[in-house]
Amino acid sequence: MTIQPVNVGIIGCGNISDIYLQNCTRFPSLRVLACADLMIERAAEKAQKYGVPNAYSVEELLADPAIELVINLTVPQAHGEIGIAALEAGKSVYNEKPLAIDRESAARMLELARTKNLLVGGAPDTFLGAGLQTCRQLIDGGAIGTPVAAHAHIQGRGPEGWHPNPDFFYQPGAGPLFDMGPYYLTALTSLIGPVRRVTGSARISFPERMITSQPLNGTMIKVNTPTHIAAVLDFVSGPVATLVTSFDVLPQRYFGLEIFGTDGTLILPDPNTFGGPVVAHRIGSKEWTEQPIQHAHSENSRGIGVADMAEALRTGRRHRANGDMAYHVLDIMHAIHEASAEGRHIELSSTMEQPAALPVGWSALEEQAA
Ligand SMILES: NC(=O)c1ccc[n+]([C@@H]2O[C@H](COP(=O)([O-])OP(=O)(O)OC[C@H]3O[C@@H](n4cnc5c(N)ncnc54)[C@H](O)[C@@H]3O)[C@@H](O)[C@H]2O)c1
Repeated sequence: MTIQPVNVGIIGCGNISDIYLQNCTRFPSLRVLACADLMIERAAEKAQKYGVPNAYSVEELLADPAIELVINLTVPQAHGEIGIAALEAGKSVYNEKPLAIDRESAARMLELARTKNLLVGGAPDTFLGAGLQTCRQLIDGGAIGTPVAAHAHIQGRGPEGWHPNPDFFYQPGAGPLFDMGPYYLTALTSLIGPVRRVTGSARISFPERMITSQPLNGTMIKVNTPTHIAAVLDFVSGPVATLVTSFDVLPQRYFGLEIFGTDGTLILPDPNTFGGPVVAHRIGSKEWTEQPIQHAHSENSRGIGVADMAEALRTGRRHRANGDMAYHVLDIMHAIHEASAEGRHIELSSTMEQPAALPVGWSALEEQAA
């Protein structure tokens, strides 16, 4: 017997909604019943483009008893409010990253889910892609021995040269850490588990910045959140990682996410993508070797975390891109800023369970047994 599809409503029909709609309308575990947006014409356009039967206001979508799960693709500032409203309406919710801007709204979501027997999920789900699942298989299989350390760095000059409305990137709740950090932190925590404590230093290198993209070319932005953040993270299982996120430097030559073990080094793929390459250097070898990739989902598969969550809703097992992990990532990011402001290490009060690895044969495009 195959699982019954879960009825889904999507709130937020902007840039990222296309790839979700493209994928979620093809996953057999999901049935997309409605789209909603503050701007109803956007919901109508996406509904028509992807054959979704209803274009609703947010209130209409939340009032539709057929919808069991809300995918929340609104801007980060609305993640908490929409997520809480969905849970209060009796629906499970999967939020784009970050889970919320503040810890309080995110914690409220987890609490509501617990008391109402609903699920909370959170992006990114890139760690379920073929590339990072291959890394998981290699690490679990001892390919690099015991993890000792990790490096993660994503640096550049910021989005005001290409993004049409980049102001929000420079306000609290954004900046390079909250914008890009979730990819790196979700990859690392999914691979080596939760973080025990963090410290870091953060600065605003340019208090004002000029937009050079259209249509706002020449407009100045006041920067209200740190834009260069260097952090150190101690994982519960022992490894120490460095994470640098920046909108303040010229492009880096080598983008980087690496895990160093007692017996080898693993170069991970870009955690904002689903595929490879995965490259390893093992003890005794003189070479870097590209590793074979056997898992499904090398292509842009945003939404596989929702498909996995739908299976969990039907079968009662734990879902992988879950609220505890997304909350832990949010807590780490806040703690890094606090550590810098207070000049100390911050012990984290949140934790998470490492999500189960995906079996090699699993694909969200195939029907799953109940
Ligand atoms: N654009 C990307 O490449 C990308 C990639 C990965 C993740 N994300 C994440 O996806 C989310 C959305 O990003 P985007 O680029 O699609 O933004 P966007 O601004 O293009 O779209 C957001 C949409 O949400 C709607 N919205 C805002 N507040 C709302 C509310 N309270 N109720 C209903 N609708 C509301 C807006 O009208 C808009 O249509 C963000 O959390 C972002 O971090 C974006």
